[in-house]
Amino acid sequence: MRTLEWDSTAKRLKMIDQRVLPSKLELISLDTYQSVSQSIKDMAVRGAPAIGVAAAFGMVLAAQQSQAGDVDSMRADLNQAAEVLGASRPTAVNLPWALKRMLGVAGQTYSSTTKLRAALLNEAQRMADEDVALNRSMAAYGAELINDGDTIIHHCNTGALATVDWGTALGVIRMAHEQGKHIHVLVDETRPRLQGARLTAWELSQYGIPYDIISDNAAGYFLHTGQVNKVFYGGDRVARNGDVANKIGSYMLALAANANNVPVYSVVPTSTIDMELASGDEIPIEERDQDEVLNIQFRNQPATPKGASARNPAFDVTPHELISGIVTEKGVIYPPFEIHLAKIMQES
Ligand code: MRU
Repeated sequence: MRTLEWDSTAKRLKMIDQRVLPSKLELISLDTYQSVSQSIKDMAVRGAPAIGVAAAFGMVLAAQQSQAGDVDSMRADLNQAAEVLGASRPTAVNLPWALKRMLGVAGQTYSSTTKLRAALLNEAQRMADEDVALNRSMAAYGAELINDGDTIIHHCNTGALATVDWGTALGVIRMAHEQGKHIHVLVDETRPRLQGARLTAWELSQYGIPYDIISDNAAGYFLHTGQVNKVFYGGDRVARNGDVANKIGSYMLALAANANNVPVYSVVPTSTIDMELASGDEIPIEERDQDEVLNIQFRNQPATPKGASARNPAFDVTPHELISGIVTEKGVIYPPFEIHLAKIMQES
């Protein structure tokens, strides 16, 4: 199944619960927009495109929950739901992007609340289908960058689980593998929530792509000893100068890759590009609960002393100078990003 999909019989949003993978493959079923917001906060669903589409279905649920007797009153309920959903996580621009699109649909003229509900469901379904199609298109462009025999460092999880299906950076790797290229992936474990070790490794096992999990701090060693050909990761928000906000650790990885002349590619749909922001300095960076850093075990014992405190920024920004290319569904964008991003965004 897809990472998330609408259950038309139960009129609920079904999704894979990413908190319990890889031990268990469990589905959760949500019937309120508030529970969708909570699932985004708790990271039952995560990854920029998946969050966007989940929020779109959250708006469908909000319309379903609304008791409004007329279209205008339902719009007021939808605006309130969009506020709640939009506040779930701050960094991925796909969330406000999807909500804006849903509110745009809600703003059209309808003769009844039933018609408005149907239009919202239709739009959310369209967004989900588009996501899969865009990912396949990015994968085809990105796979051209990969050579037979490449070893690739991949950060976080950017696969089917981070999207509706197929994935962004991991989708590129999967496409190259399906084209018959022999690839080896070094999977950054991605502390503190281990999206690499838990989710990317699980996906790679399913696709039969050879990999080794490495601790995040081993990446420099592999890059410096000439064992890596390329670095691939996704992106949660790209500013118009090409700065890329992505999972914490991406910046350090890009620095080490550049120091060793290894190219770094970020794979993002154009919905992740935020032309309103001049640079990555303006991207809001989520800071999550310190418990995610502290509450871990080493050989079944607490790994940190009682009362320890921690900082937990969930994302960082890679300055565009460190990025070799940005792979989108429109093609691979090369520097100068400011000019080339403006061009493709104008076209779309
Ligand atoms: O905190 P997460 O797991 O939602 O972070 C996800 C990432 O950083 C991904 O790399 C990003 O969303 C792009 S992948 C589609």
